[in-house]
Amino acid sequence: MCGIIGYVGEQDAAPILIDGLRRLEYRGYDSVGIAVLEDSGGIAVRKSEGRLVSLTSILEESWPHGRQGIGHTRWATHGRPSDANAHPHTDCTGTLVVIHNGIVENHRDLRARLEAAGHAFNSDTDTEVIPHLLEEHLKDGTDLHDALAQAIEELAGAHAILTMSASEPGVIVAGRKGNAGGVTIGYGEDEMFIASDLPALLPHTQRLVFLEDGDTVLIRGREATYRNHGVAVEREPQEVGLDPVSAAKGNFKHFMQKEIAEQAEVVLDTLRGRALFGESRVDLDDMARFCELLPQVRRVLLTGMGTSLHAAMIGRHYFEQIAGLPAECDNASEMRYRGAPIGPETLVVSVSQSGETVDTLAAMNEAKERGCPQVTICNVPGSQSSRVADAVVYTRCGPEIGVASTKTYLASITALYLLACYSAQELGVVDRERLGGFLEPLARLPKLVGETLTHDSIIEGIANEYYQHENFLFLARGIQYPVAMEGALKLKEVSYIHAEGYPAGEMKHGPIALIDRDMPVIAICLRDALRDKMMSNIEQVKAREGIVIALATEGDRELEEKADHVIYVPETSPLLAPILASIPLQAFSYHVALRRGCDVDQPRNLAKTVTVE
Ligand code: F6R
Repeated sequence: MCGIIGYVGEQDAAPILIDGLRRLEYRGYDSVGIAVLEDSGGIAVRKSEGRLVSLTSILEESWPHGRQGIGHTRWATHGRPSDANAHPHTDCTGTLVVIHNGIVENHRDLRARLEAAGHAFNSDTDTEVIPHLLEEHLKDGTDLHDALAQAIEELAGAHAILTMSASEPGVIVAGRKGNAGGVTIGYGEDEMFIASDLPALLPHTQRLVFLEDGDTVLIRGREATYRNHGVAVEREPQEVGLDPVSAAKGNFKHFMQKEIAEQAEVVLDTLRGRALFGESRVDLDDMARFCELLPQVRRVLLTGMGTSLHAAMIGRHYFEQIAGLPAECDNASEMRYRGAPIGPETLVVSVSQSGETVDTLAAMNEAKERGCPQVTICNVPGSQSSRVADAVVYTRCGPEIGVASTKTYLASITALYLLACYSAQELGVVDRERLGGFLEPLARLPKLVGETLTHDSIIEGIANEYYQHENFLFLARGIQYPVAMEGALKLKEVSYIHAEGYPAGEMKHGPIALIDRDMPVIAICLRDALRDKMMSNIEQVKAREGIVIALATEGDRELEEKADHVIYVPETSPLLAPILASIPLQAFSYHVALRRGCDVDQPRNLAKTVTVE
């Protein structure tokens, strides 16, 4: 969950590390630290509880100078956020430093063993066993690369580690075990960068190597030497061709605001070159293996976590309605332990913006073991999920920095729609005309997303009226039900308001007891087969003096008589309507959170990528 950065080169390392941490702060932000191997030969560690700004104020007083260093922004797992628990952690000599992402599951045993051997610990973290373990291995006369390769085998759990030692100047060693988030090596001109995520690398280089599970790497000067489980391997850098500008805030106040605003473009980019309207065909890259496996598929199981799960829940309708395949959706953290009877006849479709979410990867690995064909929807090239799956449909959003997902959610739904159309096409279950009918509304979709975004000031007005309420209910039916779930999740995440998303039919089975004048209900009531059912639910809320904020299809004036407020979204096909309906709910959360004085880009307790269970 944490952000990791490293640098070796000719420039002053500390400013590069700080800039990298600024770009990675969305990964975790409860404490932060750097270590620099100073030109004088000593290791300087500066760290602090709190956000990056607390570290920069320490640095202003004493700025370490040296040409290599490592930095970390933390999301606490073991040991509360504090100065002592912030990374980097050192060995007993203070000449070896480690930063780490993951959980050392056997840290108690290791710590007891190391303490018995005379090691003194300074923190409550699981991470601190790693520098002491390295110190032990180095006593045997091994070098840092060997020491890390050996130590990582002793650590239970999943890990991403960076280390350097004053006794090996010019060297940083990194390792990856399991799915604790990525470690990517960036090749500069005369310098090397290491980071957990692309936003910290892209301003410097696009030539990258993504470490594989079991890899360790020694970086010295411009060279990187790789091993996998101790055996030398070649890893060729690949050019990723991503736009660093899209990771900057530009003229927007917040990343969340920017990322909501760029959704028309994001949807267009996800469709570009894939939905071939003239030919009534979908063209997706690198699908040979998927097409080979598709004929054996009899059903689809979609999975993901959080917002990505909500996208997957919408995708379920696409596979059923477009490809005619029975489809289910399961939370990945449940699926991984459920022992579901799945096999080569079940197509597993996972959704993960980062491609590094631990539960989603575990569910994918479980599916792999059972021989399921797999395709993943992902935003990060080279991520773990893209390697596990037989095929990937990338969402092409550029980095998403706001911790609450917005643009990648819309793009994931769009990609799922394309994938369902593609599957129908390749299975031959739709003729050209019918497929053309599914594709046609996509052509106007980016424009309609743009139009939906223009209602922002109306939504801001409603947010200003209700931002002090402590509970919200989101109701919807059918394909809009996941949108209600997502609306509630977004509000919880960024404004800390309690919110629940329910299928409206369920309301009478309990939630109706909550309805009174203090409980705003956001009802998604677009023009579709279930609109009249939703209207009845709205009547039931009003009969109990509830406040109703309704989402309606443009032109549906009837709702104005029933609801306290109506937010209109343009008409599109019922299958694509969730994309449009999601936008006002994102904007509502954003404005409510701002009025409540919350940090919309870095909400408390959250991290962008959840790499621990
Ligand atoms: C919510 C949010 C999270 C993520 C979830 C899965 O705004 O961002 O719920 O959707 O942690 O992350 P990915 O998509 O990276 O697997």
